[in-house]
Amino acid sequence: MLYQSKSRLWHSLAVLGDLTPEDLHLDPVEAAENQEFVWEDLCSEYDAENLCLELERLSAAGQEYSAEFWSFERVWRRDEYNHYIGFQRLYALLYGESEESVTQRLVARPADFTPFHDFLTDEFKLCLMLAYDELCTTRAYAHDMPFYLAFQQPKIAEWMHKVRGDEALHYLNALRVAQTRHRDRLGEAEPILWQALELDLASKEYQATFLFDHQGPSYSPAILRGCVETVIDQIHKTR
Ligand SMILES: [Fe+2]
Ligand SMILES: [Fe+2]
Repeated sequence: MLYQSKSRLWHSLAVLGDLTPEDLHLDPVEAAENQEFVWEDLCSEYDAENLCLELERLSAAGQEYSAEFWSFERVWRRDEYNHYIGFQRLYALLYGESEESVTQRLVARPADFTPFHDFLTDEFKLCLMLAYDELCTTRAYAHDMPFYLAFQQPKIAEWMHKVRGDEALHYLNALRVAQTRHRDRLGEAEPILWQALELDLASKEYQATFLFDHQGPSYSPAILRGCVETVIDQIHKTR
């Protein structure tokens, strides 16, 4: 097999586990202003699990995914779950809601993958969509870094740097599956990526799908378009 996922094994609670609310020195107004965004990031990290369960359902129904794709999926799923555990701890520390209550609220949201069916049933399109989405996350978390530094807590900064490093690897890993397993289809990549952007910009309500949870200032249309352009450039460079 040509493809091997790149990843780092680490644990969010090994970084954040000892923190108490008193260790976070964030201005309460800033904390309140960002509650919705932290919640949305927590949701999309958790929702990677929903996407993986949907892929398992499709696979059980006869949809085929390559060994390279499952190799990517395995470490990606593990990483996103680790990010979810970290965001959940952070949310509980910041906003005083118990982790049990957070989990109940997360699980209660139904996921609807109908708008993404064409992408989920074509591995090449799925890899491109994931590469685009992960690059968006990488850039959004870079954009959000001043918020995490404002906690004046080195463990929070370390945790966010690690999360963001994972997101960059997810982008590269998804792209590499597209490039190695689907080399013969790379000529189709450009229109598919623009189609993904169109779908992203048109989606009005996020439905617990992991894909395209792109609300707020870190995900402006210009930033999203820039991500498509970068993926296309990267494919052209390495063809
Ligand atoms: Fe993540
Ligand atoms: Fe990711």
